[in-house]
Amino acid sequence: MTEPTAAAAAQASLKRVRTRHFQSAKENGVKITGLTSYDQLTASIFDAAGIDFLLVGDSAGNNVYGFDTTLPVTIDHLIPLAKAVAGSVSRAFVVADMPFGSYETGPDEALHTAFRFMKETQAHAVKLEGGVRSSEQIARIVDAGIPVMAHIGFTPQSEHKLGGHIIQGRGEGAEQLLADAHAVEDAGAFAVVLEMVPSLIAKRVTEELRIPTIGVGAGPHVDGQLLVWTDWAGFTKGRIPKFVKQYANLRQTLTDAVTAYRADVDGGTYPGPEHSYND
Ligand code: KIV
Repeated sequence: MTEPTAAAAAQASLKRVRTRHFQSAKENGVKITGLTSYDQLTASIFDAAGIDFLLVGDSAGNNVYGFDTTLPVTIDHLIPLAKAVAGSVSRAFVVADMPFGSYETGPDEALHTAFRFMKETQAHAVKLEGGVRSSEQIARIVDAGIPVMAHIGFTPQSEHKLGGHIIQGRGEGAEQLLADAHAVEDAGAFAVVLEMVPSLIAKRVTEELRIPTIGVGAGPHVDGQLLVWTDWAGFTKGRIPKFVKQYANLRQTLTDAVTAYRADVDGGTYPGPEHSYND
């Protein structure tokens, strides 16, 4: 929601982004911008910069807890992070991710998990993965008054079933993607994340749905963009996906800083008189 238009200016001056603003952004052709966040410091920076929504993603598994995948992440891992993020923003809409194993057995389990996030973190919405297969869970949570952001295409919690980080929605997969998109809209989701799908099918989904589409590696023809902040800021170690544009090189900046600090301590130049208290 950051285009230089009157609608965008109105959006940016809002006290709090709400689900209706996602909808009006789509209707007015104003782009929605999201980033992940897992802590108070980044949340407050991203909020002040006008990022519309912050996802406390289960990508915290890789970026906070040091797991190889998101599969080991639990509700208890994410609750303190979501609480820190939700407590640090004044405008951004905060979405808490429902981790693997916290909603798949059915609507009752899903609602119980959503209640925990809403009561214990003060996030504004929850996100869960899956289209047709998760539509009953989405409907039950929405019926209880909790907004749901859906997530289809490549769904990292199913990476072993999908055979790795594979682009979804190609060839015959396009029909499944469309079915998933319509299922989550019909179930009441207020927005849907499309992860790692070709641009043209993302465009078709965006044109067919009334709710906004948020792309993560879905090209430009979607209603908004979401990136994992550690990838976007060059903090992640190793390979980052092709769809990520790197806006900073924090890993190098911190490496340079810590190397200089260590050299100063070794060489006795830190602390100097300006960093020391007089008697
Ligand atoms: O956990 C996460 O960061 C996500 C995004 C990649 C969509 O689910």
